Amino acid sequence: MLAVALLVAFIFSPVLASQHPGSILKLPSDRYATHFNGGDDDGSAGTRWAVLIAGSSDFSNYRHQADVCHAYQTMKNGGLKDENIIVFMYDDIAYSEDNPRPGIIINHPMGEDVYAGVPKDYVGDNVTVDNFFAVLLGNKSALSGGSGKVVDSGPDDHIFIYYSDHGGPGVLGMPTYPYLYAIDLIEVLKKKHASQSYKSMVFYLEACESGSIFEGLLPEDLNVYATTAANAVENSWGTYCPGDLPGPPPEYYTCLGDLYSVSWMEDSDIHNLRTETLKQQYNLVKSRTSPHGLDPYGSHVMQYGNANLGEEHLYLYMGSNPANDNFSFVDDNSLPSFSRAVNQRDADLVYFWNKFQRAPEGSHKKREIQKQLVDVMAHRVHVDNSMELIGKLLFGSEQSVEILSTTRPAGQPLVDDWDCLKSMVRSFETHCGSLSQYGMKHMRSIANICNAGISVEMMSQASAQACVTIPSNPWSSIHRGFSA
Ligand SMILES: *[C@@H]1O[C@H](CO)[C@@H](O)[C@H](O)[C@H]1NC(C)=O
Ligand SMILES: *[C@@H]1O[C@H](CO)[C@@H](O)[C@H](O)[C@H]1NC(C)=O
Ligand SMILES: *[C@@H]1O[C@H](CO)[C@@H](O)[C@H](O)[C@H]1NC(C)=O
Repeated sequence: MLAVALLVAFIFSPVLASQHPGSILKLPSDRYATHFNGGDDDGSAGTRWAVLIAGSSDFSNYRHQADVCHAYQTMKNGGLKDENIIVFMYDDIAYSEDNPRPGIIINHPMGEDVYAGVPKDYVGDNVTVDNFFAVLLGNKSALSGGSGKVVDSGPDDHIFIYYSDHGGPGVLGMPTYPYLYAIDLIEVLKKKHASQSYKSMVFYLEACESGSIFEGLLPEDLNVYATTAANAVENSWGTYCPGDLPGPPPEYYTCLGDLYSVSWMEDSDIHNLRTETLKQQYNLVKSRTSPHGLDPYGSHVMQYGNANLGEEHLYLYMGSNPANDNFSFVDDNSLPSFSRAVNQRDADLVYFWNKFQRAPEGSHKKREIQKQLVDVMAHRVHVDNSMELIGKLLFGSEQSVEILSTTRPAGQPLVDDWDCLKSMVRSFETHCGSLSQYGMKHMRSIANICNAGISVEMMSQASAQACVTIPSNPWSSIHRGFSA
């Protein structure tokens, strides 16, 4: 239908269609005409800013960068200007030797290229927590590398942040050291609010346990409205994966997108966002991502912060593609549901398994992939066993499992003492090697060690005892640790 709408717009006005989408709107009769890039529904001036972050690297994580490239196209079609869209992506996908379509990234089985035109503001090792925070705070002197673009926003402006990656309780991944802790993000949001440099902010977050980034932490009075792919205690899901229906084109053996992420973008891409509210999109994404329809696949999409902002139109943050003017959300609820999805944490196994199966029998490549797969599995077992043993050493085998897996009641943060959590992670990684992408799932256990009042010294001793030898595992960025 999008294609049809675009076609109609093109035939209707070929001259205008070739220009910036905003120019189509500059008709005298259009009440939005004077403030297309800056205007609110209520007529006040202001600029729309978007910060888009893919926090992973490696072709096995194709989907996160595909999500972010797609989000860029959505913002661009909505009328946001490049100077106001800031993209963080490792940028190792499009020209990866694994990419069956060199130079092209897709986010849907039948999708068009979403890579073309994406600004390379922060790529490679410039994708860091510090740069993300500096960009958000508009602090150029705190940047290290990158394009220098920051959210140089004023009090009337609206800011949209979208982050797609692996995560764990209280933590989000980055393709570089260190990873991002929830408490540090919340501090930055408070600082941004104190600087009175935005009117309101929307944060869309895809990651495992993404609810834990805001649960009990995000105040309601910052004018920030956040939705997350999952609650604080469950993983989120990749989609368009090999074996799914629909799956990727046969030549791909990686997931193309993530369930929550493609749900909001595919909605934003086809509707008039001047008439669709954040709350309406939240409800649609919630039901499309929900485990009830997908059981056992799916997660609970959550909202946090200032819920009143849910009444606002998406237009304030994403603009709206003029080609969708006649497609209002209420008239059309035609997005397909998903029949299958892959646990975010197992998506790399799906990738390696499919890659392995397709490699020619007896080839050097096949042996290499097999070794990688074995390494990944061995690392998982090592991290799981180490954590289990540390728990037993600290709490005894009777109580260990219960203490480590305790989840706090909704509304409470993961941990009270975040410095303790950071120190404990450092202890673990010093003795047992990096937690890595997969090991982020153990953040709750480590937080519970803090919550139980264990000292960092005791943790250090237990870790040293549990991990007498650290297996060397130099393979791939996936195995990076996240303590600084
Ligand atoms: C910007 O960052 C620099 C370097 O980290 C810091 O010294 C300075 O205080 C920051 N400025 C503001 C306004 O926060
Ligand atoms: C990081 O940014 C700097 C400054 O723009 C640039 O020279 C450098 O190439 C970037 N690093 C990567 C890995 O792209
Ligand atoms: C929307 O519908 C009106 C009335 O039918 C038509 O004039 C206009 O061209 C349509 N706009 C788009 C973008 O299709």
